[in-house]
Amino acid sequence: MSQPISRYRFSIAPMLDWTDRHCRYFHRLMTQQTLLFTEMVTTGAIIHGKGDYLAFNEAEHPVALQLGGSNPADLATCAKLAQERGYDEVNLNVGCPSDRVQNGKFGACLMAEPQLVAECVAAMKAVVDIPVTVKTRIGIDEQDSYPFLTDFIRTVKEQGGCDHFTIHARKAWLQGLSPKENREIPELDYSRAYQLKADFPELTIAVNGGVTSLEQTKEHLQYLDGVMMGREAYQNPYILAEVDQQLFASDRPVITRRQVVEAMLPYIEQQLSQGSYLSHISRHMLGLYQNMPGARQWRRYISENAHKAGSGPEVLLTAMAKVPDEVNP
Ligand SMILES: Cc1cc2nc3c(=O)[nH]c(=O)nc-3n(C[C@H](O)[C@H](O)[C@H](O)COP(=O)(O)O)c2cc1C
Repeated sequence: MSQPISRYRFSIAPMLDWTDRHCRYFHRLMTQQTLLFTEMVTTGAIIHGKGDYLAFNEAEHPVALQLGGSNPADLATCAKLAQERGYDEVNLNVGCPSDRVQNGKFGACLMAEPQLVAECVAAMKAVVDIPVTVKTRIGIDEQDSYPFLTDFIRTVKEQGGCDHFTIHARKAWLQGLSPKENREIPELDYSRAYQLKADFPELTIAVNGGVTSLEQTKEHLQYLDGVMMGREAYQNPYILAEVDQQLFASDRPVITRRQVVEAMLPYIEQQLSQGSYLSHISRHMLGLYQNMPGARQWRRYISENAHKAGSGPEVLLTAMAKVPDEVNP
C-alpha cells in the first residue's frame, strides 16, 4: 500500500503581522492541503492578554498555533488551550531573533539552551495529543557548527520527545542585525537540513528559507519531508493555487484568481458585519496578481480605497475590473 502523503509536505510559515486569520482564510481558498501557521503568539499574551489570540476560522484547518515562550508550565497551559480550541498542532518558536523576543528569553536565543527547550516540549506533550513541533535555525552567532545543531536536535528529541523540526536554513545573529536582516544576510545552507534528515531519518524534517517556487520545493522534497514557504507565499499568493495538484496529487481543478476574489466576498461581508475593516482583510490580497498585467492597478485601487469609511467588497470587484480580461478568464 502506498504511504499517505504527509501534511508536512508543504506549509506556509508563521509571519508576525502577516499570517493572521484573514490571511490564512485567503490562502486556504487556494490550497486545501497546505499546513497553515498562525503568527507567533506569546504565552504572556494568551495567559494575561485581554484579546482572544487563539481565534481562527474552521475553514483554516489544518492549522498550527505557533507559540513564543520558554516557561514550560505556561507553554503547557497554552498548548492545552490550543488543543481545546481545535488547533491541529502546536509549534514552538526557536528561530526569531528580535530584541523584544530575546528579552523575554524566547525565540532563536533558546538554541543555546537545548535542555530548556526539551523541558518546554516535554511539558506541552504531557498535556496534549496533537503534535508538538519546533521551528529553529541552523545556529546562532558563533555557534554555527553542525555538531552544535545536532546537539540541539538530539537533546530536544531525546529529552523532549520532539519528532518534527522545521529548519530555517540560515543562522541568526542575535546582536546587530534586525529581524529583517536576519532573514537576508546570513547565508542559506540547505545542506545542513539535508544532513540532519540523513543523520536522524526517524525525524520529520522540513526546510524553510528562500524557497520561491514549487520547482525548488520539489527539489528539496527529494531529501526532506517538507518545505515551509514564507515571504513568497505572502507576496505572490497565487503560487499556492497549484500546490495541491503539484505536491499532493490532487485532481481538483486549479482555482482562478477571479474565483479566489469571488470566494472572498461573502467572507468579507461576514467579517465586516462583525466589526472588521476591509483594509485588514484586503491587505493580504494585494499580491494576488503579482507578475501579471494589471497587478499595479489592482494593488493601487485597493490601497487607495479599502481604508475609506464604509468600504466593502465592491472595492475588490472594481479593482478586479481594472485587470485585463485575459488575466481574469
Ligand atoms: C513579516 C515576517 C514575520 C515573521 N514572523 C515570524 C514569526 O512570528 N515566527 C517565526 O517563527 N518566524 C517568523 N518569520 C520568519 C518566517 O517564518 C520564515 O522563517 C522566514 O521568512 C524565511 O522563510 P522565507 O524565506 O520563505 O520567507 C517572519 C518573517 C516575516 C517576513
